[in-house]
Amino acid sequence: MSVHHTQSVILTGDRITGPLHLGHYTGSLQQRVTLQHSAVQYILMADMQGLTDNGAQPEKVNRYFYDVAADYLAAGIDPARSVICLQSALPALAELTLLYLNLVTVSRLERNPTVKQEIIQKQFSRTLPAGFLIYPVSQAADITAFKADLVPVGEDQLPMIEQTNEIVSKINNITGQKLLVHCRAEVGKTGRLPGIDGKMSKSLGNAINLSVSADELTRAVNAMFTDPQHLRVSDPGRIEGNVVFAYLDAFHPDTARVAEMKARYQAGGLGDRECKTVLNECLQTLLAPIREERARLMADKPYLLSVIRSGTEKAREITQQTLDQVKRGMGLQLF
Ligand code: TRP
Repeated sequence: MSVHHTQSVILTGDRITGPLHLGHYTGSLQQRVTLQHSAVQYILMADMQGLTDNGAQPEKVNRYFYDVAADYLAAGIDPARSVICLQSALPALAELTLLYLNLVTVSRLERNPTVKQEIIQKQFSRTLPAGFLIYPVSQAADITAFKADLVPVGEDQLPMIEQTNEIVSKINNITGQKLLVHCRAEVGKTGRLPGIDGKMSKSLGNAINLSVSADELTRAVNAMFTDPQHLRVSDPGRIEGNVVFAYLDAFHPDTARVAEMKARYQAGGLGDRECKTVLNECLQTLLAPIREERARLMADKPYLLSVIRSGTEKAREITQQTLDQVKRGMGLQLF
């Protein structure tokens, strides 16, 4: 039974500036695990993109090759179904980026809402690395090189998909061929997950890593920001901005129970302590098997390396093919 003609091609990636956390899990990992059964799936370890704001400290990226690979596999990515590959080992992506950059204006780059917000957050001002401003173009190269039509991502990545599709249209217009494929995003059901302090940026030690120990997890749940006005159990509490409920929504399998807890919390009569106990139990159950598998994998680095290497070899062939087509389409391939 051949279903190849209807099968989606998926490309997703992660900046590997740290081990993966629960935001990655709900934002995209869970979907990837499901989608790998029905689609051709490429997962890019985006070390080059990680360097766009860490260029002078490559160790902030190169420390995490094994951690991220172990996170993928422990979360249920099957290397027999998904191709895990390393961005810096795929030179075709860099060449495509350079070609695409000629089709994108600086003002278009400056208008990308996610990049705009990151520039403020990271307080770049005049120290903004050029590579950072253009990372959506390099991401367009990532997506188009694999001819991906589906990109499962967090909500914050929607502007990247939009920019990618603009570039796809331009290249297809210029070459007069349908060389590149338009893509659509598939956003995880929970959108963005806040850090435990309620802030959206998870680069400041406010995320819960998949590798967290049981004790650290309990501590993180207990430290979660709730409703500062909710002092007594009998007080009515607020759900909006309450991190515990954001995580219950994202992770608790019993939605009826969560709805009931919310009603009770808002009316008054449900304490933060009880909410945190329920959440802690549910996260412990989720993360215990992941932690165990991850530890097993981290003890076998040669295996992790072989997974990344063989995935990258497959990816090298595909991305080079796309680059050749684009160059030929633009009349650049003289020989
Ligand atoms: N921008 C993504 C992140 O911040 C990483 C990424 C790089 C990516 N290339 C991609 C995501 C291609 C989807 C598709 O984690």
